[in-house]
Amino acid sequence: MARKYLIETYGCQMNAHDSERMAGLLEQAGYEATSDAADAEVVVINTCSVREHAEDKLYTRLGELRVLAQEGGHNPIVVVAGCVAQQEGGSLLKRSPGVADVIVGTQAIKRLPMLVERAMATRRPAIDLDPFEDVTFPLGITRRSDPVKAYVTIIEGCNEFCSFCVVPYTRGNERMRPKADILADARDAAASGRKELQLLGQIVNHYEAPDDPSCDFTALVEAIHEIDGIERIRFSSPHPRHFSRAFLEAMQRLPKICRHLHLPAQSGSSQILQAMRRRYSRESYLELVHTIRELLPDVALSTDIIVGFPGETDADFEDTLSLTREAQFHSMFSFKYSQRPNTLADKRMPDDVPESVKTRRIVELQALQHTIQSAINARTVGQTVQVMVDAASRRLDTELSGRTSQNVVVNLPGSADWIGRTVPVRIERAGPHSIWGQVSLTDAPTEPTLQNAGN
Ligand code: SAH
Ligand code: SF4
Ligand code: F3S
Repeated sequence: MARKYLIETYGCQMNAHDSERMAGLLEQAGYEATSDAADAEVVVINTCSVREHAEDKLYTRLGELRVLAQEGGHNPIVVVAGCVAQQEGGSLLKRSPGVADVIVGTQAIKRLPMLVERAMATRRPAIDLDPFEDVTFPLGITRRSDPVKAYVTIIEGCNEFCSFCVVPYTRGNERMRPKADILADARDAAASGRKELQLLGQIVNHYEAPDDPSCDFTALVEAIHEIDGIERIRFSSPHPRHFSRAFLEAMQRLPKICRHLHLPAQSGSSQILQAMRRRYSRESYLELVHTIRELLPDVALSTDIIVGFPGETDADFEDTLSLTREAQFHSMFSFKYSQRPNTLADKRMPDDVPESVKTRRIVELQALQHTIQSAINARTVGQTVQVMVDAASRRLDTELSGRTSQNVVVNLPGSADWIGRTVPVRIERAGPHSIWGQVSLTDAPTEPTLQNAGN
Protein backbone atom coordinates (compact mmCIF):
# COMPACT_ATOMS: atom_id res chain seq x y z
CA MET A 1 0.00 0.00 0.00
CA ALA A 2 1.27 3.47 -0.88
CA ARG A 3 2.43 5.74 1.90
CA LYS A 4 0.04 8.64 2.51
CA TYR A 5 0.56 12.38 2.90
CA LEU A 6 -1.57 15.26 4.11
CA ILE A 7 -0.86 18.94 3.42
CA GLU A 8 -2.60 21.66 5.42
CA THR A 9 -2.50 25.15 3.95
CA TYR A 10 -2.77 28.28 6.11
CA GLY A 11 -1.70 31.13 3.84
CA CYS A 12 -2.33 33.15 0.71
CA GLN A 13 -2.72 31.96 -2.90
CA MET A 14 1.03 31.71 -3.26
CA ASN A 15 1.18 29.50 -0.20
CA ALA A 16 -1.69 27.41 -1.63
CA HIS A 17 0.22 27.08 -4.90
CA ASP A 18 3.31 25.93 -2.99
CA SER A 19 1.08 23.24 -1.44
CA GLU A 20 0.08 22.13 -4.95
CA ARG A 21 3.75 21.91 -5.87
CA MET A 22 4.65 19.96 -2.71
CA ALA A 23 1.71 17.59 -3.32
CA GLY A 24 3.01 16.93 -6.84
CA LEU A 25 6.54 16.28 -5.57
CA LEU A 26 5.32 13.85 -2.90
CA GLU A 27 3.15 12.01 -5.42
CA GLN A 28 6.10 11.72 -7.76
CA ALA A 29 7.97 10.14 -4.84
CA GLY A 30 5.20 7.55 -4.49
CA TYR A 31 2.94 9.07 -1.82
CA GLU A 32 -0.84 9.22 -2.04
CA ALA A 33 -3.09 11.98 -0.69
CA THR A 34 -5.25 11.50 2.41
CA SER A 35 -7.44 13.96 4.27
CA ASP A 36 -6.85 12.47 7.70
CA ALA A 37 -3.71 13.08 9.76
CA ALA A 38 -4.26 9.79 11.59
CA ASP A 39 -3.84 8.01 8.27
CA ALA A 40 -0.80 9.94 7.02
CA GLU A 41 2.89 9.05 7.23
CA VAL A 42 3.77 12.62 6.30
CA VAL A 43 1.89 15.69 7.51
CA VAL A 44 2.97 19.00 5.97
CA ILE A 45 1.82 22.21 7.63
CA ASN A 46 2.24 25.02 5.11
CA THR A 47 2.32 28.06 7.35
CA CYS A 48 1.63 31.79 7.07
CA SER A 49 3.27 34.54 9.10
CA VAL A 50 1.52 37.64 7.82
CA ARG A 51 -0.27 38.25 11.13
CA GLU A 52 0.41 36.85 14.58
CA HIS A 53 -2.87 34.97 14.55
CA ALA A 54 -1.82 33.09 11.40
CA GLU A 55 1.48 32.11 12.99
CA ASP A 56 -0.29 30.93 16.16
CA LYS A 57 -2.31 28.43 14.15
CA LEU A 58 0.91 26.48 13.61
CA TYR A 59 1.60 26.09 17.33
CA THR A 60 -1.97 25.00 18.02
CA ARG A 61 -1.78 22.40 15.26
CA LEU A 62 1.61 21.09 16.38
CA GLY A 63 0.08 20.60 19.83
CA GLU A 64 -2.80 18.60 18.34
CA LEU A 65 -0.41 16.40 16.36
CA ARG A 66 1.55 15.75 19.52
CA VAL A 67 -1.63 14.56 21.26
CA LEU A 68 -2.30 12.30 18.27
CA ALA A 69 1.17 10.81 18.75
CA GLN A 70 0.92 10.45 22.51
CA GLU A 71 -2.66 9.25 22.84
CA GLY A 72 -3.35 7.73 19.42
CA GLY A 73 0.09 6.17 19.02
CA HIS A 74 0.33 7.62 15.51
CA ASN A 75 3.58 9.44 14.88
CA PRO A 76 3.81 10.82 11.32
CA ILE A 77 6.77 12.76 9.94
CA VAL A 78 5.76 16.37 10.63
CA VAL A 79 6.95 18.94 8.09
CA VAL A 80 6.73 22.65 8.81
CA ALA A 81 6.84 24.54 5.50
CA GLY A 82 5.99 28.07 4.39
CA CYS A 83 6.58 31.50 5.81
CA VAL A 84 6.86 30.62 9.52
CA ALA A 85 9.35 27.87 8.63
CA GLN A 86 11.50 30.39 6.76
CA GLN A 87 11.17 32.96 9.55
CA GLU A 88 11.79 30.73 12.57
CA GLY A 89 13.90 27.90 11.12
CA GLY A 90 15.58 25.73 13.73
CA SER A 91 14.35 27.91 16.59
CA LEU A 92 10.99 26.13 16.23
CA LEU A 93 12.76 23.08 17.65
CA LYS A 94 14.38 25.03 20.47
CA ARG A 95 10.98 26.33 21.47
CA SER A 96 9.55 22.81 21.69
CA PRO A 97 11.89 19.94 20.84
CA GLY A 98 10.53 17.09 18.79
CA VAL A 99 7.56 18.98 17.35
CA ALA A 100 8.81 18.79 13.77
CA ASP A 101 10.91 16.40 11.71
CA VAL A 102 11.43 18.61 8.68
CA ILE A 103 11.58 22.39 8.44
CA VAL A 104 11.57 23.54 4.85
CA GLY A 105 11.76 27.21 3.85
CA THR A 106 9.78 28.86 1.10
CA GLN A 107 12.59 28.62 -1.46
CA ALA A 108 13.57 25.00 -0.76
CA ILE A 109 10.34 23.10 -1.39
CA LYS A 110 11.76 21.30 -4.41
CA ARG A 111 13.89 19.32 -1.95
CA LEU A 112 10.95 18.25 0.22
CA PRO A 113 10.89 14.51 -0.73
CA MET A 114 14.64 14.26 -0.12
CA LEU A 115 14.34 15.99 3.28
CA VAL A 116 11.50 13.66 4.30
CA GLU A 117 13.57 10.61 3.34
CA ARG A 118 16.53 11.97 5.25
CA ALA A 119 14.47 12.60 8.40
CA MET A 120 13.00 9.08 8.18
CA ALA A 121 16.40 7.48 7.74
CA THR A 122 18.34 9.45 10.36
CA ARG A 123 15.49 10.04 12.84
CA ARG A 124 16.91 13.52 13.22
CA PRO A 125 15.30 16.79 12.10
CA ALA A 126 16.16 17.93 8.57
CA ILE A 127 16.23 21.70 8.05
CA ASP A 128 16.60 23.53 4.74
CA LEU A 129 16.15 27.28 4.64
CA ASP A 130 18.42 28.04 1.71
CA PRO A 131 17.34 31.21 -0.06
CA PHE A 132 17.82 29.77 -3.54
CA GLU A 133 17.46 32.37 -6.24
CA ASP A 134 16.16 29.72 -8.62
CA VAL A 135 12.57 30.24 -9.77
CA THR A 136 12.29 27.24 -12.05
CA PHE A 137 9.89 24.42 -11.32
CA PRO A 138 9.58 21.32 -13.49
CA LEU A 139 6.53 21.28 -15.71
CA GLY A 140 3.85 18.66 -15.10
CA ILE A 141 4.63 18.03 -11.40
CA THR A 142 2.21 20.49 -9.75
CA ARG A 143 -0.95 18.79 -8.53
CA ARG A 144 -3.47 21.50 -9.33
CA SER A 145 -6.22 21.40 -6.74
CA ASP A 146 -8.95 23.15 -8.71
CA PRO A 147 -10.55 21.63 -11.81
CA VAL A 148 -11.34 24.99 -13.41
CA LYS A 149 -8.71 27.50 -12.26
CA ALA A 150 -4.94 27.28 -12.30
CA TYR A 151 -2.36 29.33 -10.43
CA VAL A 152 0.65 30.45 -12.42
CA THR A 153 3.48 32.19 -10.57
CA ILE A 154 5.05 35.12 -12.40
CA ILE A 155 7.13 36.74 -9.62
CA GLU A 156 8.52 35.32 -6.38
CA GLY A 157 9.49 37.39 -3.34
CA CYS A 158 9.22 41.14 -2.79
CA ASN A 159 11.63 44.10 -2.52
CA GLU A 160 9.06 46.64 -1.47
CA PHE A 161 9.55 46.41 2.32
CA CYS A 162 6.29 48.02 3.40
CA SER A 163 6.98 48.74 7.05
CA PHE A 164 4.29 46.40 8.42
CA CYS A 165 4.99 43.42 6.21
CA VAL A 166 6.90 40.22 6.89
CA VAL A 167 6.74 38.89 3.31
CA PRO A 168 10.12 40.24 2.03
CA TYR A 169 11.75 38.40 4.96
CA THR A 170 9.88 35.15 4.47
CA ARG A 171 9.83 34.89 0.68
CA GLY A 172 13.06 36.63 -0.18
CA ASN A 173 14.10 39.01 -2.94
CA GLU A 174 11.88 39.77 -5.84
CA ARG A 175 12.70 37.35 -8.66
CA MET A 176 10.98 37.32 -12.04
CA ARG A 177 10.10 34.03 -13.63
CA PRO A 178 11.16 33.76 -17.29
CA LYS A 179 8.36 34.52 -19.73
CA ALA A 180 9.03 31.22 -21.55
CA ASP A 181 8.45 29.26 -18.31
CA ILE A 182 5.27 31.21 -17.53
CA LEU A 183 3.85 30.58 -20.99
CA ALA A 184 4.74 26.88 -20.82
CA ASP A 185 3.02 26.61 -17.43
CA ALA A 186 -0.05 28.49 -18.72
CA ARG A 187 -0.26 26.26 -21.82
CA ASP A 188 0.08 23.19 -19.63
CA ALA A 189 -2.83 24.45 -17.49
CA ALA A 190 -4.94 25.05 -20.60
CA ALA A 191 -4.08 21.60 -21.99
CA SER A 192 -5.28 20.06 -18.73
CA GLY A 193 -8.68 21.71 -19.23
CA ARG A 194 -8.30 24.68 -16.88
CA LYS A 195 -10.26 27.68 -18.14
CA GLU A 196 -9.06 30.39 -15.79
CA LEU A 197 -5.51 31.45 -14.96
CA GLN A 198 -4.63 33.27 -11.77
CA LEU A 199 -1.26 34.95 -12.13
CA LEU A 200 0.56 35.20 -8.82
CA GLY A 201 3.13 37.62 -7.44
CA GLN A 202 3.39 40.10 -4.56
CA ILE A 203 3.44 42.94 -7.10
CA VAL A 204 2.37 41.42 -10.40
CA ASN A 205 2.44 44.71 -12.29
CA HIS A 206 6.16 45.08 -11.56
CA TYR A 207 6.87 42.17 -13.91
CA GLU A 208 9.78 42.40 -16.35
CA ALA A 209 10.77 39.28 -18.25
CA PRO A 210 14.38 38.25 -17.57
CA ASP A 211 14.41 36.45 -20.93
CA ASP A 212 12.81 39.26 -22.99
CA PRO A 213 13.73 42.87 -22.18
CA SER A 214 10.74 44.22 -24.10
CA CYS A 215 8.21 42.23 -22.07
CA ASP A 216 6.57 43.99 -19.13
CA PHE A 217 3.38 42.95 -17.30
CA THR A 218 1.16 44.28 -20.09
CA ALA A 219 3.05 42.37 -22.79
CA LEU A 220 3.06 39.23 -20.64
CA VAL A 221 -0.72 39.33 -20.22
CA GLU A 222 -1.11 39.99 -23.95
CA ALA A 223 0.94 36.87 -24.69
CA ILE A 224 -1.06 34.78 -22.22
CA HIS A 225 -4.27 36.11 -23.75
CA GLU A 226 -3.37 34.28 -26.98
CA ILE A 227 -3.50 30.84 -25.36
CA ASP A 228 -6.39 28.77 -26.69
CA GLY A 229 -8.69 27.28 -24.08
CA ILE A 230 -8.02 29.99 -21.49
CA GLU A 231 -11.20 32.04 -21.08
CA ARG A 232 -10.39 34.16 -18.05
CA ILE A 233 -7.24 35.74 -16.69
CA ARG A 234 -6.98 37.08 -13.14
CA PHE A 235 -3.95 38.26 -11.20
CA SER A 236 -3.08 39.31 -7.67
CA SER A 237 -1.97 41.67 -6.53
CA PRO A 238 -1.09 44.71 -8.56
CA HIS A 239 0.50 47.52 -6.52
CA PRO A 240 -1.21 50.89 -6.85
CA ARG A 241 2.10 52.64 -7.50
CA HIS A 242 3.02 50.42 -10.45
CA PHE A 243 -0.09 50.90 -12.61
CA SER A 244 0.45 52.06 -16.14
CA ARG A 245 -2.12 53.58 -18.44
CA ALA A 246 -0.90 51.15 -21.09
CA PHE A 247 -2.07 48.27 -18.92
CA LEU A 248 -5.53 49.78 -18.42
CA GLU A 249 -5.76 50.32 -22.18
CA ALA A 250 -4.78 46.69 -22.72
CA MET A 251 -7.61 45.72 -20.40
CA GLN A 252 -10.00 47.62 -22.65
CA ARG A 253 -8.85 45.53 -25.63
CA LEU A 254 -8.43 42.12 -24.05
CA PRO A 255 -11.75 40.55 -23.06
CA LYS A 256 -10.26 37.54 -21.25
CA ILE A 257 -8.83 39.80 -18.54
CA CYS A 258 -11.44 39.72 -15.80
CA ARG A 259 -13.16 42.98 -14.98
CA HIS A 260 -11.76 43.00 -11.47
CA LEU A 261 -8.75 44.70 -9.94
CA HIS A 262 -7.54 44.04 -6.42
CA LEU A 263 -5.94 47.31 -5.36
CA PRO A 264 -4.67 47.06 -1.78
CA ALA A 265 -5.03 50.55 -0.29
CA GLN A 266 -4.03 49.69 3.33
CA SER A 267 -5.12 53.13 4.58
CA GLY A 268 -6.89 56.28 3.44
CA SER A 269 -4.52 58.61 5.28
CA SER A 270 -1.49 59.92 3.40
CA GLN A 271 0.41 60.25 6.65
CA ILE A 272 -0.16 56.61 7.56
CA LEU A 273 0.60 55.51 3.99
CA GLN A 274 3.92 57.27 4.28
CA ALA A 275 4.70 55.55 7.59
CA MET A 276 3.72 52.27 5.95
CA ARG A 277 6.21 53.02 3.12
CA ARG A 278 3.53 52.39 0.52
CA ARG A 279 4.90 55.20 -1.68
CA TYR A 280 1.56 56.51 -2.89
CA SER A 281 -0.75 59.04 -1.29
CA ARG A 282 -4.47 59.04 -0.65
CA GLU A 283 -4.78 61.48 -3.54
CA SER A 284 -2.80 59.42 -6.05
CA TYR A 285 -4.68 56.27 -5.03
CA LEU A 286 -8.03 57.96 -5.61
CA GLU A 287 -6.77 59.42 -8.87
CA LEU A 288 -5.97 55.87 -10.00
CA VAL A 289 -9.46 54.76 -8.96
CA HIS A 290 -10.97 57.57 -11.03
CA THR A 291 -8.83 56.74 -14.06
CA ILE A 292 -9.94 53.11 -13.82
CA ARG A 293 -13.59 54.16 -13.50
CA GLU A 294 -13.23 56.37 -16.55
CA LEU A 295 -11.41 53.88 -18.79
CA LEU A 296 -13.06 50.71 -17.52
CA PRO A 297 -16.47 51.56 -16.04
CA ASP A 298 -17.44 47.90 -15.60
CA VAL A 299 -14.39 46.98 -13.52
CA ALA A 300 -14.99 45.95 -9.91
CA LEU A 301 -12.41 47.03 -7.35
CA SER A 302 -11.48 45.26 -4.16
CA THR A 303 -8.95 46.17 -1.51
CA ASP A 304 -7.04 45.32 1.66
CA ILE A 305 -7.14 47.68 4.65
CA ILE A 306 -5.16 47.63 7.88
CA VAL A 307 -6.65 49.44 10.90
CA GLY A 308 -4.67 50.44 13.97
CA PHE A 309 -1.27 50.87 12.35
CA PRO A 310 1.14 52.57 14.81
CA GLY A 311 0.21 56.21 15.27
CA GLU A 312 -3.19 55.92 13.51
CA THR A 313 -5.43 58.62 14.97
CA ASP A 314 -9.22 58.92 14.78
CA ALA A 315 -8.71 61.46 11.98
CA ASP A 316 -6.51 59.02 10.03
CA PHE A 317 -9.15 56.36 10.44
CA GLU A 318 -11.83 58.81 9.23
CA ASP A 319 -9.71 59.18 6.09
CA THR A 320 -9.87 55.41 5.60
CA LEU A 321 -13.66 55.53 5.95
CA SER A 322 -13.98 58.36 3.46
CA LEU A 323 -11.66 56.64 0.98
CA THR A 324 -13.82 53.53 1.31
CA ARG A 325 -16.94 55.59 0.56
CA GLU A 326 -15.33 57.26 -2.40
CA ALA A 327 -13.79 54.17 -3.99
CA GLN A 328 -16.95 52.02 -3.71
CA PHE A 329 -15.17 48.68 -3.43
CA HIS A 330 -16.99 45.50 -4.43
CA SER A 331 -15.22 43.74 -1.57
CA MET A 332 -12.60 44.31 1.09
CA PHE A 333 -10.28 42.31 3.30
CA SER A 334 -9.70 44.23 6.51
CA PHE A 335 -7.20 43.44 9.23
CA LYS A 336 -6.16 44.74 12.62
CA TYR A 337 -2.51 45.71 12.56
CA SER A 338 -0.31 42.96 13.90
CA GLN A 339 3.32 43.62 14.74
CA ARG A 340 5.61 41.25 12.83
CA PRO A 341 9.21 40.25 13.49
CA ASN A 342 12.04 41.91 11.52
CA THR A 343 9.82 44.57 9.95
CA LEU A 344 10.63 48.27 10.07
CA ALA A 345 7.50 48.98 12.09
CA ASP A 346 8.53 46.32 14.60
CA LYS A 347 11.92 47.98 15.05
CA ARG A 348 10.89 51.61 15.05
CA MET A 349 7.19 52.07 15.77
CA PRO A 350 5.48 51.04 18.98
CA ASP A 351 2.22 49.12 18.45
CA ASP A 352 0.41 51.93 20.25
CA VAL A 353 -3.22 51.69 19.14
CA PRO A 354 -5.06 49.80 21.91
CA GLU A 355 -6.71 46.51 20.94
CA SER A 356 -10.14 47.91 21.89
CA VAL A 357 -9.66 50.82 19.47
CA LYS A 358 -8.52 48.47 16.67
CA THR A 359 -11.66 46.41 17.27
CA ARG A 360 -13.93 49.46 17.28
CA ARG A 361 -12.39 50.69 14.02
CA ILE A 362 -12.56 47.37 12.18
CA VAL A 363 -16.20 46.88 13.21
CA GLU A 364 -17.08 50.34 11.91
CA LEU A 365 -15.15 49.83 8.67
CA GLN A 366 -16.72 46.44 8.04
CA ALA A 367 -20.22 47.82 8.69
CA LEU A 368 -19.61 50.58 6.14
CA GLN A 369 -18.23 48.14 3.57
CA HIS A 370 -21.17 45.80 4.21
CA THR A 371 -23.59 48.59 3.28
CA ILE A 372 -21.60 49.53 0.18
CA GLN A 373 -21.28 46.02 -1.20
CA SER A 374 -24.90 45.14 -0.40
CA ALA A 375 -25.98 48.10 -2.52
CA ILE A 376 -23.58 47.17 -5.35
CA ASN A 377 -24.83 43.59 -5.39
CA ALA A 378 -28.49 44.68 -5.20
CA ARG A 379 -28.04 46.53 -8.48
CA THR A 380 -27.39 43.20 -10.26
CA VAL A 381 -30.94 41.98 -9.59
CA GLY A 382 -32.75 41.67 -12.92
CA GLN A 383 -29.48 41.62 -14.89
CA THR A 384 -28.11 38.63 -16.76
CA VAL A 385 -24.46 37.99 -16.01
CA GLN A 386 -21.93 35.49 -17.37
CA VAL A 387 -20.95 33.03 -14.64
CA MET A 388 -18.06 30.61 -14.82
CA VAL A 389 -19.27 27.68 -12.74
CA ASP A 390 -16.42 26.51 -10.53
CA ALA A 391 -17.91 24.35 -7.78
CA ALA A 392 -20.85 22.47 -6.42
CA SER A 393 -22.32 24.26 -3.42
CA ARG A 394 -21.17 23.00 -0.07
CA ARG A 395 -24.66 23.30 1.38
CA LEU A 396 -27.02 21.93 -1.27
CA ASP A 397 -26.26 19.25 -3.81
CA THR A 398 -28.58 20.80 -6.37
CA GLU A 399 -26.81 24.14 -6.20
CA LEU A 400 -23.69 25.32 -7.96
CA SER A 401 -21.51 28.31 -7.46
CA GLY A 402 -19.36 30.36 -9.73
CA ARG A 403 -18.09 33.86 -10.27
CA THR A 404 -18.76 36.73 -12.57
CA SER A 405 -15.90 38.38 -14.34
CA GLN A 406 -16.13 41.03 -11.58
CA ASN A 407 -15.39 38.26 -9.07
CA VAL A 408 -18.85 38.31 -7.49
CA VAL A 409 -19.91 34.88 -6.17
CA VAL A 410 -23.10 33.62 -7.81
CA ASN A 411 -25.14 30.66 -6.59
CA LEU A 412 -27.45 28.93 -9.04
CA PRO A 413 -29.37 25.68 -9.37
CA GLY A 414 -27.83 23.24 -11.82
CA SER A 415 -25.97 20.01 -12.17
CA ALA A 416 -22.34 19.30 -11.36
CA ASP A 417 -21.44 18.59 -14.98
CA TRP A 418 -21.69 22.33 -15.63
CA ILE A 419 -18.50 22.89 -13.64
CA GLY A 420 -16.05 24.62 -15.97
CA ARG A 421 -18.75 26.10 -18.21
CA THR A 422 -19.66 29.76 -18.47
CA VAL A 423 -23.40 30.28 -18.44
CA PRO A 424 -25.75 33.30 -18.55
CA VAL A 425 -27.50 33.72 -15.21
CA ARG A 426 -30.43 36.00 -14.55
CA ILE A 427 -30.02 37.42 -11.05
CA GLU A 428 -33.05 37.20 -8.76
CA ARG A 429 -31.68 37.89 -5.27
CA ALA A 430 -28.65 39.63 -3.84
CA GLY A 431 -26.94 39.58 -0.48
CA PRO A 432 -23.78 41.28 0.78
CA HIS A 433 -21.44 38.39 -0.07
CA SER A 434 -23.09 36.67 -3.02
CA ILE A 435 -25.95 36.84 -5.49
CA TRP A 436 -28.42 34.20 -6.64
CA GLY A 437 -30.08 33.50 -9.97
CA GLN A 438 -31.02 30.95 -12.58
CA VAL A 439 -29.59 30.08 -15.94
CA SER A 440 -31.40 31.94 -18.64
CA LEU A 441 -30.79 30.68 -22.13
CA THR A 442 -33.11 33.21 -23.70
CA ASP A 443 -31.69 36.38 -22.17
CA ALA A 444 -28.80 38.13 -23.82
CA PRO A 445 -26.28 39.17 -21.18
CA THR A 446 -26.90 42.67 -19.85
CA GLU A 447 -23.51 42.77 -18.28
CA PRO A 448 -21.87 45.94 -19.55
CA THR A 449 -19.22 44.62 -21.95
CA LEU A 450 -17.66 41.32 -21.28
CA GLN A 451 -18.50 38.29 -23.33
CA ASN A 452 -15.99 35.62 -22.59
CA ALA A 453 -14.22 34.26 -25.58
CA GLY A 454 -15.00 30.62 -26.13
CA ASN A 455 -18.49 30.54 -24.65
N1 SAH B 1 1.66 42.04 -1.84
C1 SAH B 1 0.38 42.43 -1.43
C2 SAH B 1 0.02 42.09 0.00
C3 SAH B 1 0.29 40.74 0.53
S1 SAH B 1 -0.09 40.50 2.23
C4 SAH B 1 0.30 43.94 -1.60
O1 SAH B 1 1.26 44.64 -1.45
O2 SAH B 1 -0.74 44.40 -1.86
C5 SAH B 1 -1.87 40.60 2.21
C6 SAH B 1 -2.46 41.65 3.09
O3 SAH B 1 -2.23 41.35 4.45
C7 SAH B 1 -1.88 43.03 2.92
O4 SAH B 1 -2.41 43.71 1.81
C8 SAH B 1 -2.23 43.70 4.22
O5 SAH B 1 -3.47 44.33 4.17
C9 SAH B 1 -2.30 42.54 5.21
N2 SAH B 1 -1.16 42.59 6.14
C10 SAH B 1 0.14 42.42 5.83
N3 SAH B 1 0.91 42.57 6.93
C11 SAH B 1 0.06 42.86 7.96
C12 SAH B 1 0.24 43.14 9.35
N4 SAH B 1 1.45 43.19 9.89
N5 SAH B 1 -0.86 43.37 10.10
C13 SAH B 1 -2.10 43.34 9.55
N6 SAH B 1 -2.32 43.08 8.25
C14 SAH B 1 -1.27 42.85 7.45
FE1 SF4 C 1 4.32 43.09 1.72
FE2 SF4 C 1 4.38 45.50 0.65
FE3 SF4 C 1 5.61 43.46 -0.58
FE4 SF4 C 1 2.95 43.56 -0.48
S1 SF4 C 1 4.29 45.04 -1.51
S2 SF4 C 1 4.24 41.79 -0.05
S3 SF4 C 1 2.56 44.48 1.50
S4 SF4 C 1 6.17 44.37 1.39
FE1 F3S D 1 1.43 34.39 1.95
FE2 F3S D 1 1.27 34.43 4.54
FE3 F3S D 1 3.58 34.03 3.41
S1 F3S D 1 0.21 35.76 3.19
S2 F3S D 1 3.46 35.09 1.48
S3 F3S D 1 1.79 32.69 3.33
S4 F3S D 1 3.22 35.27 5.17
